[in-house]
Amino acid sequence: MSKTRATAGYKGVSQAAAQRHYDVSDDFFRIWQGPDLNYAAAMWEDGDDTLEAAQARKTAYLIEQANVRPGSRVLDVGCGYGYELRTLVEKYQVAEAVGITLSEAGVDYLHKQDLPRCEVRLENYVDHRPRTPYDAIISVEAMEHFARPGLSGRSKIRSYRTFFERCHRMLRPDGRMTVQTITWGHRFPLNIQILSDLYLATSIYPECNPPFATEIMHACDGLFDVLELRNDRDHYARTAQMWVDRLRDDREHAAELIGRKKAMAFERCMGTAVQAFTEGWLTLHRFTFRPLPVRLRPARRFLVNNVLGRGGTPKT
Ligand SMILES: C[S@@+](CC[C@H](N)C(=O)[O-])C[C@H]1O[C@@H](n2cnc3c(N)ncnc32)[C@H](O)[C@@H]1O
Repeated sequence: MSKTRATAGYKGVSQAAAQRHYDVSDDFFRIWQGPDLNYAAAMWEDGDDTLEAAQARKTAYLIEQANVRPGSRVLDVGCGYGYELRTLVEKYQVAEAVGITLSEAGVDYLHKQDLPRCEVRLENYVDHRPRTPYDAIISVEAMEHFARPGLSGRSKIRSYRTFFERCHRMLRPDGRMTVQTITWGHRFPLNIQILSDLYLATSIYPECNPPFATEIMHACDGLFDVLELRNDRDHYARTAQMWVDRLRDDREHAAELIGRKKAMAFERCMGTAVQAFTEGWLTLHRFTFRPLPVRLRPARRFLVNNVLGRGGTPKT
């Protein structure tokens, strides 16, 4: 199959694969993620911080970087169980918060919560067509699902490009977008233990393959400026360590809820995550983007590189 055909119409993770991971058991997720069901890295401060305080800090950071104001209309791509949505309507008085997800369990949970000024949709972001553009877009650890294992670097970039093109169209010209995503690091220890851990991870997280930060930079080129970028891999290591500790402390309950084999697989994956983020073969990037008003066409790039930037080589 040609590379183009392999990704033609590709929309990221299939609904079935997303539901195999996310529609497991709310109570199981509650054991380790806590009552807010926050399934992403927190933002820690030194000292005696709690997971709940660190999650609230992360959410506030992403919302404020996206320039959200009272009265804003905000889209959350991959809203999970709605912690960002709840914070947006309750603490930031937004006019409208729209969350989209591929998880039916998340949608059911949020429909029961009935948050004011909040719309939750079981929908792929690729298919989302808002009535009017948003003031801000937030996406917390959904991008890991936009490419599957086995896609070439080029095909991955094409898929991320679709994300940036859609978001560019859905965002007001003066809007902002924040994206938190796991990324592959630049060191990769090839040994049997790590390969078998990764194999297990692909069964727990089917059709999931994080980007490299450079792939994101390629994909957003000419559509968004990167205003700020943080690499917070130590924040993921600390979050995952907390999740492992909680899973270990409540092993029997976890096994009752989803079966021992699956509960142990989650625990092992989180343990691998602690190692990966500590050693740096996985990283965590937090991007703040501003949409560009005019796309830099290849012809203009050629002009900049070959004519305007031609200063000659200094003589030594
Ligand atoms: C790791 S969870 C993060 C959930 C939430 N943002 C949080 O921080 O707790 C990833 C979320 O992305 C959603 N997702 C993945 N691919 C998506 C897509 N193409 N369109 C919409 N949602 C998607 C999943 O359904 C899930 O809700």
